[in-house]
Amino acid sequence: MAKPQLPMKPTGWFQIAWSDEVEVGAVRTVKYFGEEMVAWRAESGAVTVMNAYCEHLGAHLGFGGHVVGETIQCPFHGWQWNAAGHNVCIPYQDRPNRGRRIRTYPVTERNEAIYIWHDVEGREPFFEAPDVFASFNDGSSAADYYPQQRLFRETLELHPQYVLENGVDFAHFKFVHQTPIVPVFTRHDFAAPISYVDFTITFEGSDQQSIDDVRSGVEAINGGLGIAVTKSWGMIDNRTISAVTPVDESTSDVRFMVYIGRAPWNAERANAFGDEVIRQFTQDIHIWSHQRYSDPPALATAEYEGFTAIRKWAMQFYPETPKG
Ligand code: FES
Ligand SMILES: [Fe+2]
Repeated sequence: MAKPQLPMKPTGWFQIAWSDEVEVGAVRTVKYFGEEMVAWRAESGAVTVMNAYCEHLGAHLGFGGHVVGETIQCPFHGWQWNAAGHNVCIPYQDRPNRGRRIRTYPVTERNEAIYIWHDVEGREPFFEAPDVFASFNDGSSAADYYPQQRLFRETLELHPQYVLENGVDFAHFKFVHQTPIVPVFTRHDFAAPISYVDFTITFEGSDQQSIDDVRSGVEAINGGLGIAVTKSWGMIDNRTISAVTPVDESTSDVRFMVYIGRAPWNAERANAFGDEVIRQFTQDIHIWSHQRYSDPPALATAEYEGFTAIRKWAMQFYPETPKG
């Protein structure tokens, strides 16, 4: 294993939990980007993610803190903090401390995931987290699919960028995923923080077939480095979300979600397909979690364009130039 050489505090949207892990009134402790954080859901249903330490005397809100209406109450002396991180109540004084604030993170919830916007420079979000249905503008919704199937792997020595580089890495499909032939990329659009990668691919047939005859493929949308959503066509209808979030200076958590289309499969078949999609993703994880980032890499001629484009695109999410 090798500690990632890329900066572990990139900017963007990153998943910190699933929505059903933070029910109304719940307080959940998470650790990302080297920070202790708490995620809590107010009575109104809104989720707040904030640094875990109370600004009064430093109690950890994840150990005994609880939700009171639209605030979280510290277990130590009962101070209450609202969704913006402001102190709104000191139980033994007639006015709160208006000056002190706990750092909060912009939050968005979609596709059953809780994402935070992380930026060491404190800028507001400059792109939206992609949605595995709405972002494809095809009228699809979760109702067309069986319930989400999930994979969660904690504290692996890998970097979010490794996962996104799969989107230009045509050669790995044959070796890691045993596709009969090498896929062909039909779109690489790295012009903006949300990037697009489409490719023609098949998992069936012989190694003698021509890619020109293949009538199936995948469209991928990368929302920064933290979230990638995919839609398949011409094969078993599936959508996936991969979400990789740095935990500290050497590890990341990986979450992977799969939806299988309701028609024409029964739930049992769909579940088996979903398991297979997840199994294929674990083949990638096996490589990524032991990989050493290669920079500059030794590339085949056909790999130059894609890898150069995605690595240049990735730079915009780093607060400083990656160390080589
Ligand atoms: S440490 Fe939180 S209220 Fe005192
Ligand atoms: Fe892969």
